[in-house]
Amino acid sequence: MMMNKELSIYIHIPFCERKCIYCAFVSFCADKNSQDKYVDFLVKEIKSFKTNSRVKTIYIGGGTPSVLSEENLIKIFEALSSSFNINSNAEITIEANPNSLSENKLVLYKKLGINRLSIGIQSLNDDTLKKIGRHHSREDGINSIKLANSYFDNISIDLILGLEGEKNIYKYAETLIDLGVKHISAYMLEVHENTPLNNQVESHKFIPLNEDEVTSEYEKLVKFLDKKGFNQYEISNFALKGYESKHNINYWTFDDYVGFGISAHSFLNGIRIANASTLEDYYNGVKLKDENTDKTEIEERLFLGLRCFSGVDLKILQALGFDLRENDYYKKFLHDGILKEKEGKVYFNKNYYLVSDYIISHLLPD
Ligand SMILES: C[S@@+](CC[C@H](N)C(=O)[O-])C[C@H]1O[C@@H](n2cnc3c(N)ncnc32)[C@H](O)[C@@H]1O
Ligand code: SF4
Repeated sequence: MMMNKELSIYIHIPFCERKCIYCAFVSFCADKNSQDKYVDFLVKEIKSFKTNSRVKTIYIGGGTPSVLSEENLIKIFEALSSSFNINSNAEITIEANPNSLSENKLVLYKKLGINRLSIGIQSLNDDTLKKIGRHHSREDGINSIKLANSYFDNISIDLILGLEGEKNIYKYAETLIDLGVKHISAYMLEVHENTPLNNQVESHKFIPLNEDEVTSEYEKLVKFLDKKGFNQYEISNFALKGYESKHNINYWTFDDYVGFGISAHSFLNGIRIANASTLEDYYNGVKLKDENTDKTEIEERLFLGLRCFSGVDLKILQALGFDLRENDYYKKFLHDGILKEKEGKVYFNKNYYLVSDYIISHLLPD
C-alpha cells in the first residue's frame, strides 16, 4: 500500500466501431453483451485496488472510449470515485472519435468531471480518410470539434503525418486552431506488421510519404505551430501554454500510474506490471511483472527525457552507475550541436527530433 503519494490512472477501453487499416492498438469491435461483460470486470479490477494516494490525472483511452454506452461509463466513474481520492483539479481526459461523439455524451462527460477531450481526426481529406478506413468525413471531424467546443475548452486533436498524398498538413492544423483546438498530437505514420496497411504498402497499393517528404511536412508543421504559439513539449505533442497533457508528462517524468483494463500498464514504486493483452488472459487475471532494473531505467530515462522538454539529469544517470560524459558519441553529439547540456541536464536540439531514435541508440548502456 502506498502512502501520501499522488498517482495517475489509465483505463483502457478496447472497443472501436471498426478497425482502421493502420492500427495495432489492442482494439476491436464488440457487441453490447461483450462490452457489458468487459466493463463489469473492469469495475471489479478498479474496486480491488487499494491505495491512500490521491489521483492527479485520469486518462480513458483505447480503442475508442466514446463508443461506451452512458450506463457503462457511469459504472466506471462510480468505481473510480468509490476507490480513489481524486483531486478536485485532476485532469480527466477521454479519447473520442468524431462518429461516436454526441451532445448527450458530451453533457454526461461534463457531469462526470471529464475536463479534457482527445479527438482522433487523423486527416481533413475525405479521400485519405476513406483510404485508411475511417468512418467519418472531413465535415464530420470539423462538426465534432464545433460541438465539443460548446462543452469543453481543453480539446486535443490527433493527426497522422506521412499518409499517402498528405502534403501541407500544417493547413489542417490551421483549420483546427481556428476551431479552438488547444493541443495537437501529430503522430508519424507507423506501418505495423499484421495490419492491412502493411499488406497495402508491400503491394504498393498504399504509398506513404518518403523520409524526405515526412521531414519536410514535420518541419513545416513545427514552424507553423510555433508561430501560432503552440509549445512543442514532446516530439509529437504541441500545446498552447497551460494545455500540455499533465497525464503524458507524468509518464515522461517517471511518476506512479496504475492501469486498468486489457493491455493496460502500471508503474508503481519502480515496478512495472502489464495486464494481459488478450481478453481470455485478462479475464483470467494474467499480469506480467517487470522489476525496473538500473539498465532499463537508464534507457527509459534517455528515451523519455530526450524526447520531451524535461531533458535528462546527468546526476540521476550517474547514481544509476552510468556516466554519459564518458560516451564518445555523446561528446560528438554535443560538439555537433545535436545535444546540449545546461545546468547538469542534457537536452535534444529540436532540429534533430526526427532522428532521435538513431541518436539515442548510440547513447544507451551496453
Ligand atoms: C487510441 S487512438 C485515438 C482515439 C480513437 N480511437 C481514434 O482513432 O479516433 C490513438 C491515436 O494513435 C494514432 N495512431 C494509431 N495508429 C497509428 C499508426 N500506425 N501510426 C501513427 N499514428 C497512429 C492515431 O492518431 C490515433 O488517434
Ligand atoms: S485508430 Fe482509433 S478508431 Fe482506429 S482502430 Fe485504432 S483505436 Fe480504433
